[in-house]
Amino acid sequence: MTTETQAAERLAFLAAEIARHNALYHGEDAPEISDADYDALMRENSALEIEYPHLVRADSPSRLVGAAPSGHLAKVPHAQPMLSLDNAFADEDVTDFVGRVRRYLNLAADAPVALTAEPKIDGLSCSLRYEKGVLVLAATRGDGAVGEDVTANVRTIDDIPERLKAPDLLDQPPAVFEIRGEVYMAKEDFTALNTRLLAEAEDPAKARQFANPRNAAAGSLRQKDPSVTASRPLRFLAHGWGDASALPSETQKGVMDAIAAWGVPVSDDLVRVEGDGPALAHYRGIEARRADLPFDIDGVVYKVDRLDWQKRLGFVARAPRWAIAHKFPAEKAQTRLNAIDIQVGRTGKLTPVARLEPVTVGGVVVTNATLHNADEIGRLNVWPGDRVVIQRAGDVIPQIVENLSRDESRGDWPFPHVCPECGSAAEREPGEVDYRCTGRLTCPAQRVESLRHFVSRHALDIEGLGITHIESFFRDGLVQAPADIFRLNKEILLGRERWAELSAANLIAAIDTKRSPPLDRFLFALGVRHVGEVTARDLARRYRSWEALKAMIDRAIEARDAAVQAVGESDDKFVVRVARELAAIVETPGVGPEVAFALIDFFAEPHNRKAVADLLTQLHPADVIHETRASAVSGKTVVFTGTLETMSRDEAKAQAEALGAKVAGSVSAKTDLIVAGPGAGSKLKKAQELGIAVTDEAGWATIVGESR
Ligand code: IVH
Repeated sequence: MTTETQAAERLAFLAAEIARHNALYHGEDAPEISDADYDALMRENSALEIEYPHLVRADSPSRLVGAAPSGHLAKVPHAQPMLSLDNAFADEDVTDFVGRVRRYLNLAADAPVALTAEPKIDGLSCSLRYEKGVLVLAATRGDGAVGEDVTANVRTIDDIPERLKAPDLLDQPPAVFEIRGEVYMAKEDFTALNTRLLAEAEDPAKARQFANPRNAAAGSLRQKDPSVTASRPLRFLAHGWGDASALPSETQKGVMDAIAAWGVPVSDDLVRVEGDGPALAHYRGIEARRADLPFDIDGVVYKVDRLDWQKRLGFVARAPRWAIAHKFPAEKAQTRLNAIDIQVGRTGKLTPVARLEPVTVGGVVVTNATLHNADEIGRLNVWPGDRVVIQRAGDVIPQIVENLSRDESRGDWPFPHVCPECGSAAEREPGEVDYRCTGRLTCPAQRVESLRHFVSRHALDIEGLGITHIESFFRDGLVQAPADIFRLNKEILLGRERWAELSAANLIAAIDTKRSPPLDRFLFALGVRHVGEVTARDLARRYRSWEALKAMIDRAIEARDAAVQAVGESDDKFVVRVARELAAIVETPGVGPEVAFALIDFFAEPHNRKAVADLLTQLHPADVIHETRASAVSGKTVVFTGTLETMSRDEAKAQAEALGAKVAGSVSAKTDLIVAGPGAGSKLKKAQELGIAVTDEAGWATIVGESR
């Protein structure tokens, strides 16, 4: 146990030691310790200061200007993932959302569903962890699972209290409570900041200028030096919570009111409404005041008010079923189309990009817009030199929505039939809209793009290995395929320009941490067509190990090779029959024949097989271990039949899966339990014949309730 004297001595030591490392790093550019070790010292200091607040020194490193970790901000895993939201654009989408909620919860079509409605602030999300009412950690969203530690920076934001207020004795904040919300910059402060940066710059042409308040907020919060954050006018609005040892209310509105009472700002425009009609009315009201609000918003967020319902509704992929963001319509502007460039993607797809005369749309300067494909160019009848209307919504790439110089007598702009990168023919497969370069791995653009995808954030996420490094390693022949990344070492890097001992060591360490990536990330990283994150995850969950997944793919390749068109069978029928057989081999809900064909195409290609085999000499994907609760049905097979009265089939299935049970559609000797509701017919009869255990919905609720 640490005594107070020991704590004081240690704090003195830490203050001196951290100051020494700061001087080494900032002053002499010769750090002695790694970023991680530096962060550990800072964390030890903060932990002691939280335990002994009266011992915080005047020269404490947590107060010190320039006391920032040297390299990147430290990573912190979130106790509860930070999610995103599904979007609604039209009123019907909101009505559909409420309908889905009712169906999932098995409520009557006209049952009241209370919602909260509040502005969607255009900032960056941040999680503030309070323990015993004291701020101990602040983290950015990062990839949702792991964020960046911005505690020191957040301490400089006036809206965020160091200690939560306890409104009265009975209303104490819980022991652990993570408040989540948006760090943002008010419009006025944003303009003033840009003006100040311009005035302070030695060379006004080179002055740092932020494109919009959101970028300014992100750039100001994610600073290595908290004194920079302190000089930027950041604000905070809470919109939810993460990890919590207890909740002060049973409703969303109730908890938000409590957060406000603890002294953390919550939107004045947060209201509780009954169903979609009043929710839409609130949306219209906010939309009308949008321009007058002091900060940028891009829509209204609706959340199911009852927390027990939120819990039952749960999540799909990255977003909750109990909330939706109703976006405002996109903003538009006119400009001139200067040129059409063609970019080559990782799968060889040729994407036309519109180069525009710079124009401001919703506070952001736009210079490029996507044109999607040749058909879109034809549809818009655009040629370089035309005047066009562009629109931009949120973070999506701006689009051309109208051509003001349309003149069909010119015909369509001639889309190139050769790859601009490698000169190979570009072809369009029957039924496809895109032209693709046929150069495959001989096309440098495709190789670089697949490498970039491999290391990207939702794939292997190799920190510090961005596109600039990938391009330069590729150009110099150092990295030609993913496996080569793992063959890099410190000596190689040090032999190159602009690499120093520390930066080289950091990159090699970052690469080494990715030698057993989660199976789904590994599969996604390979860049197989149609295998996005969700499909990769579905496949990984179904097969759990790379070996099992690969065996399935090989079975599919064999089946495709063995398929023979029957005499008199039409081409269409043949394709449909093979597609069905392949989907049956893939055996993964939600994964159809398109993915099966894409997996086969990828893995039947000798180049790819070789590249994957080579990669597997460097890393091995980690098996999927299901996180399930222990219960009477873990590992068993359950069949639901008849009408369920308190929940929908989807919810029942999700519950069973969370308990590690498998849900089957039909009864067989492998079935362990039948949950039968009113109207159960043949399945119940068959179960009784086979002597399978039967329970009703109440019995099922007990099993769920007893799980750990
Ligand atoms: S709720 C589980 N409410 O929008 C749901 N998010 O597109 C978590 N955001 O990452 C989000 N205003 O950073 C919620 N009133 C609001 C919001 C809001 C802005 C951000 C948030 C989130 C993103 C999702």
